Amino acid sequence: MRPLVIVTRALPEPVETRLSALFETELNAGVASFDRRRLADALARADAIASNVGDRIDESLLAGAGPRLRLIANFGVGTDNIDLAAARAKGIAVTNTPGVLTDDTADLVMALILMTMRRLGEGERIVRGGRWRGWKPTDFLGRTLAGKTLGIVGMGRIGRAVAARATAFGMAVEYHNRAAVPDHPARYRPDLDAMLAEADVVSVNAPYGPATHHLIDARRLALMKAQAVLINAARGAIVDQEALIAALERGALAGAGLDVYPEEPNVDPRLVAMEQVVLLPHMGSATIETRTAMGMKMVENILAFSEGREPPDRVA
Ligand code: DGY
Repeated sequence: MRPLVIVTRALPEPVETRLSALFETELNAGVASFDRRRLADALARADAIASNVGDRIDESLLAGAGPRLRLIANFGVGTDNIDLAAARAKGIAVTNTPGVLTDDTADLVMALILMTMRRLGEGERIVRGGRWRGWKPTDFLGRTLAGKTLGIVGMGRIGRAVAARATAFGMAVEYHNRAAVPDHPARYRPDLDAMLAEADVVSVNAPYGPATHHLIDARRLALMKAQAVLINAARGAIVDQEALIAALERGALAGAGLDVYPEEPNVDPRLVAMEQVVLLPHMGSATIETRTAMGMKMVENILAFSEGREPPDRVA
């Protein structure tokens, strides 16, 4: 009997085709949101779940997992939506899809930097709103990237790819990380507070977990320059959103570029009302190429596991 793989949301077509060729599948095309009840049902029946960042698979859901469930193959590099310790305790393996989304996510970080520093969102809204009255030397003045300092928080694959891009834009790149990256040309800042106090742009590129929950809190935001901007394309809860909103409201921070939020898909209306904030719908890896590659990686993990091989991207 072929293993049953339950997919929580529609995947790129080539991925669904490959999954269906290899396994018994429930693809759930058209299911906008796989709620808790559906997730519980999937966990109870499947051999493997193809989940993603929108599926919160916590300890209580895992407690109800059926005897067949052996693998949660997450479509994404972050696995903070899954309680890894609880999965381990139940003997359920967890895999992710690292590597393939590095370039696209780093590109999106650069886009957010450009959008916030050059006020591109504001400009676009003015043209679309029919409010552009012609070229003026003093309109839409943003800030030059070249010569500014970018502080990267978390120097994994994506952080390093952001560093390469920002260097090409003429920025001076510094980074904070648990340890220095050997032979990397950017300046290592073991003291996060000191880096935040000096950077013109701060980009959060760390994984989310207990160690990074509200890493950028009110105290740290207060260290940043009033002209600085904060970019977050990692996970919403790494930044204390209330503290960020307060800092933006009192002008203690010039702007923010966000692709992620603590309670997705809810975006705080106070952020929506701010011209100096760029808001994207968690689309760092959203290209045809990358979402297909992520899916194929996920399929390879399921296939390896079902054949009794060690899955290449096992995280638990
Ligand atoms: C990732 O891969 O972690 C993206 O944020 C989508 O989940």
